[in-house]
Amino acid sequence: MKLGILKEQQKETRVSIVPAVVQRLIKELSFEVYFESGVGKKAGFSDADYIKAGAALMERKDILELLDIITIINSFDAPFQPNSKKIVVSVLNPLFRTQEIEKFRNPNLTVFSLDMVPRSTKAQAMDVLSSMASISGYKAVIKAAELYGSVFPMFTTAAGTIRPVKVLIIGAGVAGLQAIATAKRLGAVVNVFDVRSSAKEEVQSLGANFIEVAGASENLNAGGYAVEQSEDYLEKQRALIDQYVSDAGIVISTANIPGKRAPLLIERSSVEKMKAGAVIIDLASEQGGNCELTIDQKMIGHQGVIIVGNSYLSRELPETASQLLATNYFNFLKHYTQLDAISRIEDPIIAASMLVQNGEMVNERLSSLLKDTVC
Ligand code: NAI
Repeated sequence: MKLGILKEQQKETRVSIVPAVVQRLIKELSFEVYFESGVGKKAGFSDADYIKAGAALMERKDILELLDIITIINSFDAPFQPNSKKIVVSVLNPLFRTQEIEKFRNPNLTVFSLDMVPRSTKAQAMDVLSSMASISGYKAVIKAAELYGSVFPMFTTAAGTIRPVKVLIIGAGVAGLQAIATAKRLGAVVNVFDVRSSAKEEVQSLGANFIEVAGASENLNAGGYAVEQSEDYLEKQRALIDQYVSDAGIVISTANIPGKRAPLLIERSSVEKMKAGAVIIDLASEQGGNCELTIDQKMIGHQGVIIVGNSYLSRELPETASQLLATNYFNFLKHYTQLDAISRIEDPIIAASMLVQNGEMVNERLSSLLKDTVC
C-alpha cells in the first residue's frame, strides 16, 4: 500500500501522521509513505524529520492521483475527483457537518472518518474524539488561567489570604473530566453539571462537586453519549446553572449531543451576573455553543466577561495532538489492513467509520440522521 500525508488547510496546525508513525507504517505494515512538503511544520516536524523516518516527498497533485491511501484531518477545499481507487482517512465531524460528504461523491473514493468509530473497548485506540477532547479539556483550563486576573489556589500571604477560584464545568465527558482534573491540580474549587448519572461517580472521584438536576433523560443504547433533553428540563437546568455561573470566576462548557446543536445552557442574563474579569471557555462552540453569547472561533468581551468559543483547542497543542492523532490513525490502518474484504463488511469499527464507499453514502448513523432532518 502507498500512503500519502496531505497538508491541511490554513487554520489547522495538526498533522494526521507524525514521523514516528511513518516508521511504524513502514516497519509494521510494510507501507510506502509519501508526504507533501511542509506537512508537519506547524506541529514541529520538519520535512527532514519525515525523510529520516523513511517517507519521501511528493507533490500534492501526485499524492492525490497516484497513491492508494490518503490521510488528512479536515476536508478538502473542493470536491476531489480521482481517476483511480482511493481510501481517504479523515476526521470530518459528519454528523454535524453533513454537507462535507458531498465533496466525496466519486466512484473511486472510499472515505473513513475516525470521529465515527464506536465507543467500544476495541476501538478505543482509534478514538480521535477522546484523544482530542482530553487535550482540549486540559488546554481550556490553562487558557482560562492565563486570561483570568487572579490565582487558582488559596493564597495565604503576609498581605492577606486570597480565596481559591470557583470553576464551573458543564459536561463531564472526556474533555470535562480532564478539565476537572487540571483545575483541581491548580487548586480550584470545582462544581460540575452533567445529565448522565454515570458521570457522578467519576466527577466525585476527582474531588469535584456534582450538581444534579432531577428528571434527565438517558438512553443506555446511545453508546455512552448523552441524549437531547426536553425543553422543560433544560429550563430547570439553566435556572440552576444561573446560580452557579454568577458565582464562578471561570466556566468551561463542553456539553454536546452527537449530531445535534449543543444544548443552550448559559443565558445572556447569567453572563451579565458574572463579575468583570470572569472567563467562559465554550468548547461546544462548533455545534452552536453552550453559551448564548458564544461566537465560534472568536474571543469576545461582554460587560467585562471574556468568552472564548473554540472547539479546537487541541490545535493550540499541535505536537501532542498530532502524536495522539497519528497513533489513532495508525491503529485504524493496522486494523483495516488486517481484515480481508469479507470481514471488513461485517466489522463494526469499519462499518461505523465508513462514510462513503465507492462514491455511495453508506453510513447508517448518518443516513438515519439525514432522514430525521428531512422528515
Ligand atoms: P460529548 O462530547 O458528546 O459530550 C460532552 C459531555 O456533555 C457528556 O458528558 C454529556 O453527557 C454532556 N452533556 C450533554 N448534554 C448536557 C446537558 N444538557 N447538561 C450537561 N451536560 C451535558 O461526550 P464525550 O466526552 O465524547 O463522551 C461521553 C461519554 O462517552 C464518556 O464520558 C464515556 O462515558 C463515553 N466514552 C466511552 C469510550 C469508550 O468506551 N471507548 C471512549 C470515550 C467516551
